[in-house]
Amino acid sequence: MKKMTCLVCLLLAVMLLAACGQRDAAVQEERLIRVGFSQVGSESDWRMANTASMTAALCEENGFELIFDNAKQRQENQLLAIRNFIQQDVDYIVLAPIAESGWDDVLQEARDAKIPVIIVDRQISVEDKSLYTSWVGSDFLAEGQTAVRWLEKKLAEEGRAEEPLRILHIQGTDGATAQIMRSRALDEAVEAHPEWEIVAKLPGEYTEAKSYELVRDFLSRGEEIDVVYSENDNMSFGAIRALEEAGIAYGGDGGVLILSFDAVREALQDCLEGKINLCVECNPLHGPRVAALIQQLEAGEQPAKETYVDETSFSSDTLTEEIVRARDY
Ligand code: AHR
Repeated sequence: MKKMTCLVCLLLAVMLLAACGQRDAAVQEERLIRVGFSQVGSESDWRMANTASMTAALCEENGFELIFDNAKQRQENQLLAIRNFIQQDVDYIVLAPIAESGWDDVLQEARDAKIPVIIVDRQISVEDKSLYTSWVGSDFLAEGQTAVRWLEKKLAEEGRAEEPLRILHIQGTDGATAQIMRSRALDEAVEAHPEWEIVAKLPGEYTEAKSYELVRDFLSRGEEIDVVYSENDNMSFGAIRALEEAGIAYGGDGGVLILSFDAVREALQDCLEGKINLCVECNPLHGPRVAALIQQLEAGEQPAKETYVDETSFSSDTLTEEIVRARDY
């Protein structure tokens, strides 16, 4: 009888523990912070690294439930994704915007639903800046100015400062902060240097394929160039392929100078091998930064409205194999 009572007690204890376990799991699930993230697309190595950083940081182990949407480089898909997030009543919306304009209405809808919005990477231009809580990303104008200053120095060192310079400008997605600001830096430099000329502006949309096609067609017309100013690494890869096919020397000393943005590992390797002359860094590792902003808001703190990340640049004179090997993306 005594044995029987013990067995019943044991059974009850096991059932109680199981019930507690279930309740704990439910409570834990309830505590996950639900985040809807609208990503631009997967147009570049930079973007893939950015997506990996965001998904790694906003994971369940870190207390988040992430709803990820890839907009495939279309703003209408981003608007749809944000409206879906609102319907799903997420706790936060994170937006990596394709372009600066066109967000006022949808962000007003998020505000009406009382969902805070965090902007990451490129910026947005809205009438009422309180429609978003915080932004974190790069100083794209400073990146462009870094490239331009490097070019000035390089030409001066080679005694070519007064010579005519023909620049092929490959641009990123029209209206994106990265495009607007990197283009502005070059346009301002061309204004300041009467001997510099932009021979063409090609809309490469941040992809290798598009850049390759455009540069190939451009070169087939027999145009001559001294510099390629390419607003991301993948477009540089496309341009390099087209230059190679056209039998035009590039990189190193004496070839068409290649100035590139992002500094992903493959571009750094190209720089080390003398194929790319300058890699201006654009840091994609925003996941932990966004997670920290959300945690600040959860703690009732008010994060900074704007956070610019630190960035650097690499040329073949400064780059080492160790730097390339240590690159995370
Ligand atoms: O907004 C950052 C830019 O977007 C990166 O330079 C580019 O590679 C990406 O697609």
